[in-house]
Amino acid sequence: MKDLRDYLKYLQSKGRLITINDRVNTELEITAYTDRANRDNVYESKTLLFTNVKDHNMPVVTNLFGSLSTMNELFSNTYANELLYNLSALKSQSGKISLIKTSKLLIDSKPKIIESQLSKYLTIPNLDHLPIIKCWPNDAGKFITFPIVITESPKDKSTNVGIYRMQVFDSLTTGMHWQAQKGGAIHAKDAEEMGKKLNVSVVIGTDPYNMISAVAPLPVGVNEFAFAGVVRGSQTVLMKNGKYPPVPANSEIILNGHVDPKEKRIEGPFGDHTGYYSIAQEYPVFHIESIYVKKDPVYAASVVGYSWHEDAVIGQFLFDFMKPIIKATNESITDVYLPPEGIFTNMCFVSIKKRFPGEAKKVMFSILGLGQLSFTKIIVVFDDDIDIRDLRKVAWALATRVEPQRDVQIITNATADSLDHTTNLPSF
Ligand SMILES: Cc1cc2nc3c(=O)[nH]c(=O)nc-3n(C[C@H](O)[C@H](O)[C@H](O)COP(=O)(O)O)c2cc1C
Repeated sequence: MKDLRDYLKYLQSKGRLITINDRVNTELEITAYTDRANRDNVYESKTLLFTNVKDHNMPVVTNLFGSLSTMNELFSNTYANELLYNLSALKSQSGKISLIKTSKLLIDSKPKIIESQLSKYLTIPNLDHLPIIKCWPNDAGKFITFPIVITESPKDKSTNVGIYRMQVFDSLTTGMHWQAQKGGAIHAKDAEEMGKKLNVSVVIGTDPYNMISAVAPLPVGVNEFAFAGVVRGSQTVLMKNGKYPPVPANSEIILNGHVDPKEKRIEGPFGDHTGYYSIAQEYPVFHIESIYVKKDPVYAASVVGYSWHEDAVIGQFLFDFMKPIIKATNESITDVYLPPEGIFTNMCFVSIKKRFPGEAKKVMFSILGLGQLSFTKIIVVFDDDIDIRDLRKVAWALATRVEPQRDVQIITNATADSLDHTTNLPSF
């Protein structure tokens, strides 16, 4: 898939794209349509292409990743599966290890950087020209909901790519909602320590491999565009972008600007994937210095909120995809599952083939120490005879096997997701 348009063609050929020619307002109406598209079958919902957006001549596409079948078709049997398999097989005598293949995959993954193609793009003066949506009635304003935020550490020049929502404050200023432990925030901290501002490029719309890799919970320092190269099976092509980090050569829309690590502003509330409005909190500010758009750009947005949307599909898919890494360091684990009903990292079920007393506790702490899984509020460790993907079996095991006083371990002052409105220690 060369770019986002190719992906849309692919979805259309599979009958998974609905084109909506009704005139829609960016305020609430695009959410209303997308929300309904997710109602019947959250794991197989259609992508929506809005061609007639009030006050704009740019189409908006939502729910790009609402189909688990599409995700499996895009990513199954890819090089990344093989890579993860090889890594987890390293320890197993019987594992089919192809170190040469693994090394080649890693070497080939390095993004290719070409000269800037920005002269082929048009420029627009400010954000008023983009069909940015307001999702829910009590949102603080309009939000760019699927921005691919690219930063480079001024210390070691490592690249990070993440999706962090951006609230529109005015036509050239937005919020930058990177949570404290995310790659972008860590690069901003590096810049702060060096007394510098951080140049940031933001892409709205690129090929699906780049978009999904930006969400993948990769360790800080691992370049998501390199990972995208591995899953795509061919190098990610980036283009030079002046003093800003290079961007995919197939970007639809590019926003270049900077974040001053010392500047913070209240961001939110925003109707989030927990089904609640996330609390307004202080976040960095993104100052836009230039905006480039393709000739006929497509604006990509994501809608989340109460009941499950494409975030459920993306989360489910990525977690299963990355599972070999968790299993590689916890031999007793037979399955790990983040039920979408538990808003992913709020709840984690693990099944183990227990080998010694206390092993459940070891597994629990190990999960709490793993990257974004450190946000997990509730971890339940089951014996391996329970199918942890069957919520009826889960309830039965909880009801019949737990003696709460003995079996429940409460960790005080635990780390908390900034989206968790129940905590006494926000963003801790
Ligand atoms: C639609 C969507 C919106 C997201 N919004 C945010 C956000 O506002 N802030 C945030 O920290 N993470 C957000 N995430 C999750 C991050 O993109 C994800 O944790 C990613 O792994 C971060 O990359 P990093 O580890 O390189 O920082 C969002 C994910 C999706 C799919």
